[in-house]
Amino acid sequence: MRFRGSTIFVTGGAGFIGSAVVRHLINDTHARVVNIDKLTYAANLDSLSSTAGNPHYAFEQASICDADFIRKLFEKYNPDAVMNLAAESHVDRSIDGPDEFIQTNIVGTFTMLQESLRYWRSQSPEKRAKFRFLHVSTDEVFGSLGDDGLFTEMTAYAPNSPYSASKASSDHLVRAWRETYDLPTLVTNCSNNYGPYHFPEKLIPHMIIKGLAGDALPVYGDGKNIRDWLFVEDHAKALTLVLERGIVGESYNVGGRNERTNLHVVESICDLLDEVSPQKGSNRRSLISFVKDRPGHDRRYAIDATKLERELGWHAEEHFESGIEKTVHWYVKQRPWWEAILERGYAASRVGLTH
Ligand SMILES: NC(=O)c1ccc[n+]([C@@H]2O[C@H](COP(=O)([O-])OP(=O)(O)OC[C@H]3O[C@@H](n4cnc5c(N)ncnc54)[C@H](O)[C@@H]3O)[C@@H](O)[C@H]2O)c1
Repeated sequence: MRFRGSTIFVTGGAGFIGSAVVRHLINDTHARVVNIDKLTYAANLDSLSSTAGNPHYAFEQASICDADFIRKLFEKYNPDAVMNLAAESHVDRSIDGPDEFIQTNIVGTFTMLQESLRYWRSQSPEKRAKFRFLHVSTDEVFGSLGDDGLFTEMTAYAPNSPYSASKASSDHLVRAWRETYDLPTLVTNCSNNYGPYHFPEKLIPHMIIKGLAGDALPVYGDGKNIRDWLFVEDHAKALTLVLERGIVGESYNVGGRNERTNLHVVESICDLLDEVSPQKGSNRRSLISFVKDRPGHDRRYAIDATKLERELGWHAEEHFESGIEKTVHWYVKQRPWWEAILERGYAASRVGLTH
């Protein structure tokens, strides 16, 4: 009976995490979903083919910066909740061109908050009490960790890249709209996601696709940067749980307790590819090379998800080894999904090195 009779706006629903959220809501709950997406380079409606024709699913192509259009969507659908995932999300791209990050991540979130507030104020007390605005953010707002320690909800913000600075700004706006105007907001900060339907420029799909082709596998710096990997479907479930049961005004960290160095991640991919698609005469690890590091590359991220686990009963179902195996198998089987992206002209090259 979850979300029976509820209409949920999912912004960025054609992206990697957004599409996992839409699939989860449509397949596993009774929610009606309106996917609001501008369809940038990162979007892929093929990731939502399983929802085609479902009467509980609607798609609206729109920018979250377009206040007039967003207002019309509120009037048209009367939603009960907004899950705000639309963003420019690639750190390397934010180094080469921060403008879009400021527009979508900051101005877009501001626009969604303003239009949500206008709509929320016009509703009945019952509908106002039920309404939620869930903003999906990142652990990158907390900056970089040393060799030990974990990010908690109390960790001070210290963003280091244009991407994380724009997300940090949007988190502050969300908090302020709660404190100043009482809009019922929630924030989640999650670690690095991976899994099926991930755009090929991100580390894991990039390495799988390059490894399958027998191409060089360039790893930034010494490969010792640590990320805390979260399987995307576990994240989607965490987000719907926070929407349903989270305490208004709170933030929740979401993480898989799966800290791995980038080198370990790439080596795991190599070993799995050697099993499922062996290459004559050599193993994939021999394709790994170390290249100039990204500027401002945070050394370590690690999430303490205790609050979400203890208060809302969420637990990641996948550990890194099971999740990466599922992911590699998915990319091996689902070639048409990512080959179509490569055919659209995405060059699979490194960006974000400044000079
Ligand atoms: N991927 C991760 O590991 C990760 C980790 C932590 C937090 N996040 C956050 O989760 C959210 C989703 O990330 P993702 O990896 O799915 O991103 P993504 O880049 O795969 O997808 C973003 C989606 O937003 C859409 N979009 C961009 N600008 C828009 C605009 N102005 N209006 C409407 N739609 C727009 C794009 O078309 C795309 O479909 C983001 O807010 C990101 O900051 C991601």
